[in-house]
Amino acid sequence: MHAPDDLFNPARYARVREPAARAVPLPNWCYTSPEFYMREVERIFMKVWNYVGHASQIPEAGDYFTIEITGAPVIIIRGDDGEIRAFHNSCRHRGSRVAWGEGSCKNLTCPYHNWTYARDGNLIATPLIDEDEDFSRADYPLLPVTMDHWAGFLFVNFDPACAPLADYLGDLPANCAAYAPENLVCARRKTYSVEGNWKLYFENYNDSLHIPFVHQGTLAKQKVKGRARSTHEETNGSYITHFTKHEGSRGLLTGETGFPPIGALAGRYQAGTYYPCLYPTVLFGWTIDCLWIFEIRPTGPETMDLVASSFFPKDRLERPDFEEVAARYYARIDTILPEDNEAVSWQQQGLRAPVNAASNFTHMETLCHAFDNWVLDQVLD
Ligand code: FES
Ligand SMILES: [Fe+2]
Repeated sequence: MHAPDDLFNPARYARVREPAARAVPLPNWCYTSPEFYMREVERIFMKVWNYVGHASQIPEAGDYFTIEITGAPVIIIRGDDGEIRAFHNSCRHRGSRVAWGEGSCKNLTCPYHNWTYARDGNLIATPLIDEDEDFSRADYPLLPVTMDHWAGFLFVNFDPACAPLADYLGDLPANCAAYAPENLVCARRKTYSVEGNWKLYFENYNDSLHIPFVHQGTLAKQKVKGRARSTHEETNGSYITHFTKHEGSRGLLTGETGFPPIGALAGRYQAGTYYPCLYPTVLFGWTIDCLWIFEIRPTGPETMDLVASSFFPKDRLERPDFEEVAARYYARIDTILPEDNEAVSWQQQGLRAPVNAASNFTHMETLCHAFDNWVLDQVLD
């Protein structure tokens, strides 16, 4: 369905703004329109704290990785002083991209004319070009991007006037403290490309109605004892969340055994899984013995990448059987995610219809409604 000319007029979304029991999903064009996507980039991704990865991915000086946040290229690198810094991945000479992928480096050298930057971003070499009264290398370090972290989770913000990360997270760190997140390390990352708008993935994760159908051969077969889902807990951070009570680990497929539970767990966290979803793109799954994060990386109005990261307490990685046991956790992700990826692509295809076919949210989709309204809060005039 084509977007109307006044697509940021709040009146267009009056029925999404209704209380959840009466509300409708976002109109089709929010998932297909380049204009709507451009507005999201400007008003959401260039303003919020964007999760980029975890400190344990770059443990040594010179370790780095690169990321594109809705197209904006960033380098994350650990310096000789142990600090992790973020820079725009754009050369100070004539703007070329400087780094690709991930790895370990002594310096970062731009491939175009070989201007070379130290691991703290300072420009240290400009082959064939000498310093003189008009040109001093000290004036041209890589441009920094504001970075902050919570327990090793790294975030960047493109807005020079942004509020601190702690304000954005609100009570999320306190609500995850039982899992001792500072002890976790990222053991595996796997990237999928998904033929769907980024919001569909966020919604899918918050919709438990699809589980018996999309996951009929897998999750739906799990014998879940004592299951109870508490929906829509109140938070004071930029996230929505629910907690599901159940026995065992949600990190494993039925019948598998894994690592012992995280030692520090107390209260409700000893039996269940906590699912906070930080706006706009970070889907957490904290369960009794591990953490997974599904990172949504929008690549355009109708496409995205999904990065699945698996975290375990540090001492599990020192066990001789670590890889063997961890493989059972990876098997669950490798089984479930392609099912969700496909479901999201079906929805994307359907949303290209020239009519708005969707009716109402059901009582099992109130978190999707909360998310859609957060998006509207950011993008409308
Ligand atoms: S653009 Fe990087 S050295 Fe010229
Ligand atoms: Fe799913």
